[in-house]
Amino acid sequence: MKKVCVLPGDGIGPEVIGCAERVLREVAGSLELVRGDIGLEAFKRTGSFLPEDTLDLIRECDSCLFGAVTSVDSLSYDSPVLRFRKELDLYANVRPVKNLVTIQGRAPIDVVIVRENSEGMYTQDEVFDDAGVITRRRVSRRACERIVEFAVSYAHAAGRRRITCVHKANVLKASDGLFLSVFREVLANKGKDIQASDQLVDSAALRIVTEPSAFDVMVTLNLYGDILSDVAAGVAGGLGFVPSGNIGPRHSVFEPAHGSAPDIAGRGIANPTAAILAAAMMLSHIGMREEAVAVKRAVEAFYSSGHLTVDIGGRHGSKSFTDHVIRNLSGSKP
Ligand code: NAI
Ligand code: MG
Repeated sequence: MKKVCVLPGDGIGPEVIGCAERVLREVAGSLELVRGDIGLEAFKRTGSFLPEDTLDLIRECDSCLFGAVTSVDSLSYDSPVLRFRKELDLYANVRPVKNLVTIQGRAPIDVVIVRENSEGMYTQDEVFDDAGVITRRRVSRRACERIVEFAVSYAHAAGRRRITCVHKANVLKASDGLFLSVFREVLANKGKDIQASDQLVDSAALRIVTEPSAFDVMVTLNLYGDILSDVAAGVAGGLGFVPSGNIGPRHSVFEPAHGSAPDIAGRGIANPTAAILAAAMMLSHIGMREEAVAVKRAVEAFYSSGHLTVDIGGRHGSKSFTDHVIRNLSGSKP
């Protein structure tokens, strides 16, 4: 029996993860779901935003489903998200962005953003000096190779045929230049069947909005991937639609791409689509592919039958949306 660790976290985290748990119980009754804490609740219990017992729990489970945490505005705050990514070697971040409903004035989008998840701007190496702050950014050859190889394998497995490397090598000639040259090497060796291209990050951000069909798989550095995935989410209808997988050689954590959304927390209107699709990605990752497909179909059926969630101008809140998805599941369960 597969075992999954569930970390609801802060803000809308527990609301959307509660919905995803309902769906998991319905579609994958054999899955053991074990709750752990992270974020403010964990801090109250242990004085740490990511206690050791939570990290151990993620390690001993087959995968993990995580909501979101609220950051604390303090220089000494150690982000639990960056920490679990680092401690568990979750070097690849995968964010599929697809519109499930036609959004007026926005072009259809279906891209997968593969983001280097272990270094770049997120090395958090910042030093104060008399003039201000120096931030050092690590771009290692190994990390570039790993993420580009991951993107190629992902494209092969998903039947996607185009990969765009997104960078700023015209300015950051050494670091982003290394990423781009590794991209070209890896594609020449392992992705001969793939159409490879590259684009500067600023014009890529524009193009995601104006011509999203130009992209299929995008592979990029940590900070660019973080920003571009929110831009792409905007094209697809909002952050409530985009799931995210943090994947490493041994462990994995799946989450909605959004944060704790304090502006809407506690009102029952958060869109659980991203969290439920993250649960589907997790099912697929642990080998429960039929269940994953059933969940995706049930979510898609909600939108294709004309219903809308509150975030895109509809009337369905978190519970009503999830009730519909669970009802749709009975038609598509494996
Ligand atoms: P956010 O993603 O929480 O929210 C941005 C906007 O999108 C807000 O207007 C919010 O209401 C909306 N939104 C997000 N998810 C939604 C959903 N499921 N349904 C409907 N609307 C949704 O980003 P923000 O406001 O920049 O950050 C809030 C907090 O979350 C901060 O403390 C930040 O550090 C944290 N954060 C945590 C992350 C994580 O735990 N992985 C990731 C991103 C932010
Ligand atoms: Mg982000």
